[in-house]
Amino acid sequence: MTIRKTKTRKVVVIGTGFVGTSYAYALLNQGVVNELVLIDLDEAKADGEARDLNHGMAFGNPMRIKAGDYEECHNADLVVITAGANQKPGETRLDLVSKNAKIFKGIIDKVMAVDFQGIFVVATNPVDILTHLTREISGLPKERVIGSGTILDTARFRYLLGEHFEVDARNVHAYIVGEHGDSELPVWSHVQIGGVPLIQYANIQDVYQNKEMTDIFENVRDAAYHIIERKGATYYGIGLGLVRLTKAILNNENAILTVSAHLDGQYGLNDMYIGVPALLNEHGIREVMELDLSKKEQIHFEKSANVIQEMIDTGMK
Ligand code: LAC
Repeated sequence: MTIRKTKTRKVVVIGTGFVGTSYAYALLNQGVVNELVLIDLDEAKADGEARDLNHGMAFGNPMRIKAGDYEECHNADLVVITAGANQKPGETRLDLVSKNAKIFKGIIDKVMAVDFQGIFVVATNPVDILTHLTREISGLPKERVIGSGTILDTARFRYLLGEHFEVDARNVHAYIVGEHGDSELPVWSHVQIGGVPLIQYANIQDVYQNKEMTDIFENVRDAAYHIIERKGATYYGIGLGLVRLTKAILNNENAILTVSAHLDGQYGLNDMYIGVPALLNEHGIREVMELDLSKKEQIHFEKSANVIQEMIDTGMK
């Protein structure tokens, strides 16, 4: 009798800085994986983080947590990359391109050297460009290289709209798409409050002339700057967003999240990673949802795509 191979639910996190450890802590609390391996250039740091998390095991969910090396990637379901320099006050995400591109080249080569055949999830900024680079270097199929994209921006957007209208954010349907950065855009034409289109629900004639709505979007777009000014970095929101993404994949959810996905003609774009609603399951990205954008949204989306393309053409040499 052949024993059916159960899914290992093994995740390797590369980078045990604030984002990587916030993600690990949230995985422990939510009981998402069976095995979690922490890799960091600073091996002592990775070991210390694993020890600290393990000591909370009795309060969390049973799972195996350890510090390890790249060998551990060979049978991982997911390799989640959070390593790299993060934004300093006043720095944009795009300012990090050349620094983090060099770091990534080393990381991806080591992961692929052990014949990794799972799914990459990239969180390091600038995430769209580094996800594109991860796919180029790894050679994995496009659906198995995913960036966190605008998953957090969309959550911020839904939260702020929910606060404004005093509606549970889970009943606010809204997307932020484009670059995870200054050129991102709100898809106002598809915002719904409990299934009612925003412009009808709030009786808004022109959302682009509505100060409350434009303020909400600006607070979403600039959220990271506001947090970095106050506490030096962002990590809880993105850590939780990465757990949501992990669950969609490991639980084969067929869930739709705004991640950095590879476009092959959708939205008129080719061979580019950018934040769009995509359907996720155990195989990675099953399909990209192609929204019917308004004229203004399409123009803004193309501008955002140009920002990414220019960085790919110049920043990664
Ligand atoms: C932020 C980081 C994840 O938006 O770029 O908080």
